[in-house]
Amino acid sequence: MATAGGPAHLRLYINIDHVATIRQARHADEPDPAAAAAACEAAGADGITAHLREDRRHIQDADVDAIMRVIRTPFNFEMAVTDEMLAIAERLRPHQVTLVPERRQEVTTEGGLDVTRDPARVRAALARLAAAGIRSSLFIDADPRMIDQSAELGAVAIELHTGRYANAPADRATLAALRDGARRGRGASLAVHAGHGLTVRNVGPVAAITEIEELNIGHHIISRSVFIGVAEAVREMRAAMKRD
Ligand code: PXP
Repeated sequence: MATAGGPAHLRLYINIDHVATIRQARHADEPDPAAAAAACEAAGADGITAHLREDRRHIQDADVDAIMRVIRTPFNFEMAVTDEMLAIAERLRPHQVTLVPERRQEVTTEGGLDVTRDPARVRAALARLAAAGIRSSLFIDADPRMIDQSAELGAVAIELHTGRYANAPADRATLAALRDGARRGRGASLAVHAGHGLTVRNVGPVAAITEIEELNIGHHIISRSVFIGVAEAVREMRAAMKRD
């Protein structure tokens, strides 16, 4: 939302999963995701995001413990809606949990969580997170049915899946869906986040949607860091998402 002093600050949470992907490619002890999280913070990240997948393909259990120990900014813990993950969240007590769908064969999170499919399970998970004092967010497609259902289930926030837009940024319908979704979410008193597939080239129009208060960006920033370093990669993303 715009304020008297100009557009509100848009938070940049950096997903450091793919630092772990590089490490796991060798089953080595470097690069260290917790060290990457600290470097992102030093470069100006507002928060750190990591996804502990059920298959442990990149981030490991020890990584989330280390990240929680090291960082000073909020930790956004991405996880599937399972008892195992809920128990981990209750032990860790991160600032925020984002519930995401997971399929073992997928390369990355391919679509939003279908919150209409097993609403009782999602409602129960949100209640457990609330009881543990953890802010909740649901990663969903910018679909009116998903947005309304997220509010009804008691989520604090939604994260709109920007993957379709990122794959076709010239297709105005994908951006319009995000704009409409963000407005609908705010109208339902949800905090609105967005993420997936965002780069310095495509982030501008998403960042300009003033209802969005937080972006979760991973692969592109880590990829750019290989060539220009973490600090510069964070700086160029910040510049690309500037609202004024
Ligand atoms: N948000 C969610 C819920 C995700 O699952 C991911 C990917 O792990 C991201 C944001 C970040 O996507 P990307 O790595 O493409 O920036």
